[in-house]
Amino acid sequence: MFVLGIETSCDETAAAVVDGEGRVLSQVVLSQIAEHKPYGGIVPEVAARAHLTHLDRLIDKAMTDSGIAYADLSAVAATAGPGLIGGVIVGVMTAKAIAMVHDIPFIAVNHLEGHALTARFTDNVAFPYLLLLVSGGHCQILVVEGVGRFRRLGATMDDAAGEAFDKVAKLVGLGYPGGPAIERAARDGNPTRFAFPRPLKGKPGCDFSFSGLKTAVRLAAEALPEMNEQNAADIAAGFQAALVESIADRVARAMAVFQSDYPDGRTLVASGGVAANTALREALVKTSAKRGMNFVAPPIALCTDNAVMIAWAGAERLKLGLVDGLDFKPRPRWPLDPDAVPVRGAGVKA
Ligand code: KG4
Ligand code: ZN
Repeated sequence: MFVLGIETSCDETAAAVVDGEGRVLSQVVLSQIAEHKPYGGIVPEVAARAHLTHLDRLIDKAMTDSGIAYADLSAVAATAGPGLIGGVIVGVMTAKAIAMVHDIPFIAVNHLEGHALTARFTDNVAFPYLLLLVSGGHCQILVVEGVGRFRRLGATMDDAAGEAFDKVAKLVGLGYPGGPAIERAARDGNPTRFAFPRPLKGKPGCDFSFSGLKTAVRLAAEALPEMNEQNAADIAAGFQAALVESIADRVARAMAVFQSDYPDGRTLVASGGVAANTALREALVKTSAKRGMNFVAPPIALCTDNAVMIAWAGAERLKLGLVDGLDFKPRPRWPLDPDAVPVRGAGVKA
């Protein structure tokens, strides 16, 4: 089995080929950071145009690098939501055209399912497992019961975790993308100089909230006579410590629910761009150890947006016979757990 995967839902244009065992035959990612940097964030129209400019060439390269021919493909999978609709349309239409020309199935992949299933091919994680999905547009904790089967235990009530990183970075002049910049600056900062709140820590439930923390950071920054390198580093360190502590607290609560409802479950998986953060990974290792769970986080390049995860989700779906018609409509909003109350950071991208 060989599956071509296409990812265009945000600011990475990507294509990859994987086989049914999870071997990566090729992968190409083109980041649009340079295109969006002048605007201090992602501009949907700019993203859509850039996907259109680069996608066919990237697919060509992924196919050439893979060493297989189009005729050898078993299916073509593309992110069909949630995400910025212009880019999603570009990827879906391209995938449908390939499916039609080569007479192979088209598979519409939920981008979040791509993040969710990555740990299955990197670490062979068995269902069910607990998943912390933390990215620029999403922050939620779910039980992954199977392919296409998710139960959401908690989600953010306001900002996504990556969004909070990006906004704080902008506020203290660290630029975009904010997550890696905050992480770097925090290494030279004093995490205890500012006493930032740990949102929802100790409160019942497994939801997240970051807007109060963001406001506390803004007030602290405004009270400073100037924003120099040391002040920015101290704020970055204080913010990161508060956010990580808050997330770890929510995850510990979700673990209690998971362990009582799924006695066979052993593993916590972290995925999405923010799962690249070392401080967060360290905290999750400790939280997992305390509750006797394994912790798995895919390599950083597979935590941030990529097409390998889309190709792999396509392969998992193909094995179960889950393919889609060429009339499938892209879904800008597409929650993993349709039964959970709709909230912003859970597949309902603002
Ligand atoms: O999963 P992703 O690549 O794209 C989305 O689907 O949103 O996540 C991007 C987000 C951005 O907000 C970025 O600032 C954040 O992930 N991020 C990080 C780190 N690397 C990327 N946040 C904290 N620490 C990092 N090292
Ligand atoms: Zn993503």
